[in-house]
Amino acid sequence: MTDDVPVKEQQHVIDAFTDLAPEYEKKMDSELNLFWGWSYAELLDTLLANCNDVQEKRILDLATGKMMIPRAILSANPLVKQMVGLDITYRMLELGKKSLGKGSPIEMLCASALEIPFRSSSFDLITCALATHHMDVKKLLCEMFRVTDFNGQVMVVDVGASKTWMNPLVRSIIRVLAFLYFLFRENSSRAWAEAEALPNIRTAEKWEEELEEAGFSEIKIQKLQSRRPWIPDPILIQAKRKGD
Ligand SMILES: C[S@@+](CC[C@H](N)C(=O)[O-])C[C@H]1O[C@@H](n2cnc3c(N)ncnc32)[C@H](O)[C@@H]1O
Repeated sequence: MTDDVPVKEQQHVIDAFTDLAPEYEKKMDSELNLFWGWSYAELLDTLLANCNDVQEKRILDLATGKMMIPRAILSANPLVKQMVGLDITYRMLELGKKSLGKGSPIEMLCASALEIPFRSSSFDLITCALATHHMDVKKLLCEMFRVTDFNGQVMVVDVGASKTWMNPLVRSIIRVLAFLYFLFRENSSRAWAEAEALPNIRTAEKWEEELEEAGFSEIKIQKLQSRRPWIPDPILIQAKRKGD
């Protein structure tokens, strides 16, 4: 793991997750429950249930946070060839590292998913959970496509948007509400990070369009069903980079 401070363009995100890191698991569990009626463990299980056949695969988990996804994949599939967790927030990785046993094969990298420091076609599977809304999705998809090997796969799980949420007025209102909610519940970095994330939230249709534009095929988008009627369904996206 490098000590270098990565790209600064997402400073609110880095500050927010640096503060959140010590209590990340608890907070995420209660936020997922509040917004979707889901526990974090349920989300992990859903992701894992779709992670078949990863034996001998090279896997990159983008925006890995405290590396709960790499840990879960590896404990369910010890024969993975390579497991890398990449995140822009050093503190998340640092605390995540403490939970890994000594000699864990998980490689950690503090870097931006928008400039992935790996050569093209380096991975067979790329995962990314609860994080695309913090990024420029077009750039992210471009980078994901580049580092996915031919016949490799990407899997994304994140918040979704309904058509109503795409309305500019509704979006502005939700943005202000999100800002105020996180300002009072958390702090100003988190409030900015979540308010800035709003424009990156997409409908399933928009995801499909942008995945196709980025070059992916065999796109499968599943709505995971929010148990809270006022919040759009989270989505699970799977897509392939076809062989040449
Ligand atoms: C809600 S957490 C999700 C962490 C993890 N995927 C999980 O499911 O537990 C969002 C993470 O995205 C990371 N993140 C946001 N923008 C990023 C970027 N451009 N590159 C890498 N990581 C990023 C944050 O640092 C944070 O750790």
